[in-house]
Amino acid sequence: MAAAALGQIWARKLLPVSWLLCGPRRYASSNFKAADLQLEITREPHEKPDPSKPLAFGKNFTDHMLMVEWTEKKGWGRPRIQPFQNLMLHPACSGLHYSLQLFEGMKAFKGSDQQVRLFRPWLNMDRMLRSALRLCLPSFDKVELLECIRRLVEVDKDWVPDDTNASLYVRPVIIGNEPSLGVARSSQALLFVILCPVGPYFPGDAVDPVSLLADPTFIRAWVGGVGDYKVGGNYGPTVLVQEEAKKRGCEQVLWLYGPDHQLTEVGTMNIFIYWTYEDGVLELVTPSLDGIILPGVVRQSLLDLARTWGEFRVVERKITMKELLRALDEGRVREVFGSGTACQVCPVHRIVYQGKHLHIPTMENGPELIHRFLKELRAIQYGTGTHEWMLPV
Ligand SMILES: Cc1ncc(COP(=O)(O)O)c(C=O)c1O
Repeated sequence: MAAAALGQIWARKLLPVSWLLCGPRRYASSNFKAADLQLEITREPHEKPDPSKPLAFGKNFTDHMLMVEWTEKKGWGRPRIQPFQNLMLHPACSGLHYSLQLFEGMKAFKGSDQQVRLFRPWLNMDRMLRSALRLCLPSFDKVELLECIRRLVEVDKDWVPDDTNASLYVRPVIIGNEPSLGVARSSQALLFVILCPVGPYFPGDAVDPVSLLADPTFIRAWVGGVGDYKVGGNYGPTVLVQEEAKKRGCEQVLWLYGPDHQLTEVGTMNIFIYWTYEDGVLELVTPSLDGIILPGVVRQSLLDLARTWGEFRVVERKITMKELLRALDEGRVREVFGSGTACQVCPVHRIVYQGKHLHIPTMENGPELIHRFLKELRAIQYGTGTHEWMLPV
């Protein structure tokens, strides 16, 4: 790529997105307020899932949802907590045609004191606002939205599983809702939040490792693109690659990038390697947030925990397949894992790369670090005391 073009990309990154893409009109949009919430309780509550049966991810929904409508002319309407229901959309709605759509994913946990708490929801609000500005969807007050979400979870708190292996998944969404086929900023939008009780990613205390297909012909995100935003358009095209991974005997995709085959992410998770680096120092490394990596909440939490322990080097830096191959050859790799809201931490035991099946010795090494992270996260999430990462509902 020409140096001038690269220079432009980096210059864009240094400016706040709202300035560049949306102009001063952005600031004309009003905010909605949690104090204006309208509450309509359902008259037909659904049957809750049987706690003795496994809960499939994202298939059971609670009784209520949050809904806020926005138009360019009137700004945000009053937020509503209403019975869970289908949306009515114009067939030309921009969210359906051009991926003017963004989403978030976070979890609420029930402690043994029966108190429900949300895990680091402030980080999700930050990321959601960034995504909204990137898509020229309306901005909002993060504090007010979080309070509306807290109230929604409170209304449906009986749906939060009472089980230290399960939780309530919270899915906020914004879609462009303009009934027009023009590719332009949307003059209408819908913000809604739905909730799903979800079961454990791994049954019991065991952690099951996954195998990864690393094929550099498939690219998830690129410099100057939107891989570091949580927008729906990033995900649809990955389904085919996930199917390809399955056909080739793997469970997930290891997304590579660039001529040096950088390891970037695993499926919909951030990636970590715990190894002795080339300089002989034991370290935990994950790719830096250089524009192609989603800033994961669990990624940040693992970095924060490991830095607090101060027992090994914790670093954010580019990682290449060449470095990994050399480290495997020299027996320096301890654990490779993904991190994300769904599983928290997920071990990797095999990578299929350029026709070779690379064995990753994560499971032989305990996996000590993975178990430690899982234990520490669980203590925070299901703990009964106050913790700065938890927002009581
Ligand atoms: C591409 C991608 N990377 C990483 C993550 C992990 O992010 P988080 O830890 O916030 O769930 C996700 C999940 O949201 C994702 O979709």
